[in-house]
Amino acid sequence: MNILFAASEAAPFAKTGGLADVCSALPIALSEQGHNVSVIMPAYSGIENVGVPIESTGKTLTIPIADRIVYGELLKSHFPNTNVPVYFVRHDLYYHREGLYNSRGVDYQDNCERFVFFCRSVLETIRLLNLEVDILHANDWQTGLIPAYLQTMYKSSSKFQDLSDPFAGFGMLEDYDVRNTKDAPLYDRIKSVFTIHNLRHQGRFWQWDMNLTGLDWKYFTYDKMEFYDQLNLLKTGITFSDVLTTVSPRYAEEIQTEGFGERLQGVLRYRREVLHGILNGIDTHEWDPANDPALSDPYVCFDQNSVFENKPKCKKALQQEWGLPERPEVPLLGIVSRFDPQKGLDLITQLAGIWVQRFGVQFVVLGTGDSWLEGRFHELASWYPENIAVRLAFSNSMSHRVEAGADLFLMPSRYEPCGLNQMYSQRYGTLPLVRLTGGLADTVINGSDENIQRGIANGFCFHAATTDDLNKAFEWAIHCFYDRKDDWKKMMGIAMAQDWSWSRSAKKYADLYQDLLQKK
Ligand code: ADP
Ligand code: GLC
Repeated sequence: MNILFAASEAAPFAKTGGLADVCSALPIALSEQGHNVSVIMPAYSGIENVGVPIESTGKTLTIPIADRIVYGELLKSHFPNTNVPVYFVRHDLYYHREGLYNSRGVDYQDNCERFVFFCRSVLETIRLLNLEVDILHANDWQTGLIPAYLQTMYKSSSKFQDLSDPFAGFGMLEDYDVRNTKDAPLYDRIKSVFTIHNLRHQGRFWQWDMNLTGLDWKYFTYDKMEFYDQLNLLKTGITFSDVLTTVSPRYAEEIQTEGFGERLQGVLRYRREVLHGILNGIDTHEWDPANDPALSDPYVCFDQNSVFENKPKCKKALQQEWGLPERPEVPLLGIVSRFDPQKGLDLITQLAGIWVQRFGVQFVVLGTGDSWLEGRFHELASWYPENIAVRLAFSNSMSHRVEAGADLFLMPSRYEPCGLNQMYSQRYGTLPLVRLTGGLADTVINGSDENIQRGIANGFCFHAATTDDLNKAFEWAIHCFYDRKDDWKKMMGIAMAQDWSWSRSAKKYADLYQDLLQKK
């Protein structure tokens, strides 16, 4: 199949979270399975530092934004060590900025325009390069307009097409009536897939931004693009795509309920026949404890056989690197996270002091984001310098070393569409302690007596997002660490043997694409 994957970020070119990991690992896995996959994303500043050459395609993007024309350039590269092409939509005024979506916590005012430009560019790229595309796979709100443009403007046979007004929303731009032109066959064959990685981030803008999209106002209705008087780009993706997916089976169920639906549960329930939950995989080359360049001197790599010998060395090196006393006997707790209310880290800040005093535990905390949380962790580190080390930074190599050196990895998320760090942790023999929600519930099996005996426990879990529940699970985990060392080792072995590689999930996406292509 010919698959074009559109995303606002993809590692290693640009990353703010797990979206970037998935938007590189999944296309690469699909390509390894024999499909013809390309990725397209914005050309942010920094993409040139990845170490692969980036070239111009010589093609100019000519995009209508409201009543203006905005030009862009189409660049081309590939993911490192692969042949998977990556196209970049270049328009420096939009994308050469400090952050991807915001600066110092404040969203860019023109985010709607930035991603209108990107989405239109994706559709235009197909004809500029004469790309054969069977599946156009869009991800999250930044790409939500793509299925809408495909259906309403680019397909000659669209059921949404308004034939009475061929230039609707486009002023005098004849070039932009692509319907029934020579390019129509390129688009008519395409099916669209839209993946929700996080329902909370919806790309909501004031309604007059509808004019920027160039789409007819008749789509500004409660069953398509309108959401409580605002324009909602995630909802647009949900309502216009042929098939919807989200990143774990549990989250696919949860988002149809009031508690997790972010006021879109009705729309999602309406589309439940085409909504699928496919668990994310992990890139087992990048996250490979047996061969991890981030763990080179003074760190060591380890695999299932050498884990009990070498992981303690990683722990020691981590304590050194983070300025904590080298204490092999105390549990070392790891956190690598965006600081966002989603992640439930406020619960940890309430309990950290108590845990330090009662159990002598150490923490290494790597994260940035919410300034309140940054302040709280900073404060905790100053109160307990021997036990709590905090780095308010985004560092890929550090995150590898935390995964390798910690004993227990904490993810008390209030909601978690999938979560990748619990799977990275398991692969590094670091037991995750998680709240049972979304993908965490689909990947972590609690270390209860019964589950340990059955040989299936691979972490620790709690139910309610309360300090009480978290504390109970934590006390049990600490008891296992200190007093049931054999059980702990057994769980480490089970966790490390878990196969979270992309191959299985990529196959599920491929099957889904195939089914879709067979439908009329
Ligand atoms: P989310 O996408 O909601 O942030 P995931 O668990 O799916 O959650 O993915 C988070 C990704 O971002 C992981 O690859 C994690 O290692 C990475 N990450 C988050 N914060 C940091 C940080 N401060 N430094 C390095 N990597 C980070
Ligand atoms: C989102 C979610 C996270 C998921 C990631 C990749 O950022 O918060 O749970 O793993 O996307 O799908």
